[in-house]
Amino acid sequence: MKTSNTPALHSTEPLPGQSTALLQALHLLTRDGKLNQDSARKLKQVKHLIGFIKPLVDILLEQKPNLSIVDHGAGKSYLGFLLVDYYLKDHAPLAQVYGIDVRQELVESARVLAQQTGFKQMKFLALSAKEAIESPDLPAQVDLVTALHACDTATDDAIAFGLTHHAQYMVLVPCCQAEVARSLRQTKQSDNDDPISELWRHPIHTREFGSQLTNTLRSLQLEAHGYQVTVTELVGWEHSMKNELIVASRKGPPRLAAIKRLNNLIDRVGLPALKERFFTPSL
Ligand SMILES: C[S@@+](CC[C@H](N)C(=O)[O-])C[C@H]1O[C@@H](n2cnc3c(N)ncnc32)[C@H](O)[C@@H]1O
Repeated sequence: MKTSNTPALHSTEPLPGQSTALLQALHLLTRDGKLNQDSARKLKQVKHLIGFIKPLVDILLEQKPNLSIVDHGAGKSYLGFLLVDYYLKDHAPLAQVYGIDVRQELVESARVLAQQTGFKQMKFLALSAKEAIESPDLPAQVDLVTALHACDTATDDAIAFGLTHHAQYMVLVPCCQAEVARSLRQTKQSDNDDPISELWRHPIHTREFGSQLTNTLRSLQLEAHGYQVTVTELVGWEHSMKNELIVASRKGPPRLAAIKRLNNLIDRVGLPALKERFFTPSL
């Protein structure tokens, strides 16, 4: 996949043409234009992510000027605001960005900021990623789904949303997911003679292996549904521990081999209940 990793997208400087006032309104810059350490980290992550998203938007724009992007677990909507400010407002003025978050107060303040900045191409909905799947306030077909550190299983719900809304692309940076580690912990407590359970015997391994297994299952699920998947790191580990970037592009029909591998892997680790979470298409 081609990415336009310009130096500006790698630094903690504002993006070219980016409004300092917006960064201040988002509290990424202080009133006197300074960046604290947390903001610098966040800005770096968001800018890297925009570096991955922009070429995908360019491809979509060739076919569709009014493309739609849905960002799950949007929080203060740094990603949406910076993407609109840096790129969409000039290059894709008909694109629509939806920021979804369960926290009503974050949605309200994002609405106010979008009004103040005149960013009419942004909308915000107070919904969980799961509720968004059925929401009539979102288009039936969405072009690009993003989720940056959406908590726990919200990334899985964002994937389910992308699948039901036929997203061409999904760009996901998962947060920690506790569900799989919890299930692993239970199998550890029962008599488990299978030496594979050594992989998650120690608590730190339960968490780490749980996280790796989760993202492996997410990637296989996307492949099972016909997506081509790239898994890489977003920024250096020194900037974030939650650093895995999954980029999925819809390529074709469901893939039987991936469906089998996903289900076999779930069986191999002895967690058949996870088949509901990481559901595969019926062929
Ligand atoms: C760690 S913050 C990340 C916010 C933002 N994406 C960012 O990177 O700055 C996670 C956000 O996910 C939201 N969230 C948690 N569970 C969610 C769910 N099931 N559906 C949608 N949003 C959720 C939280 O309210 C929170 O704002």
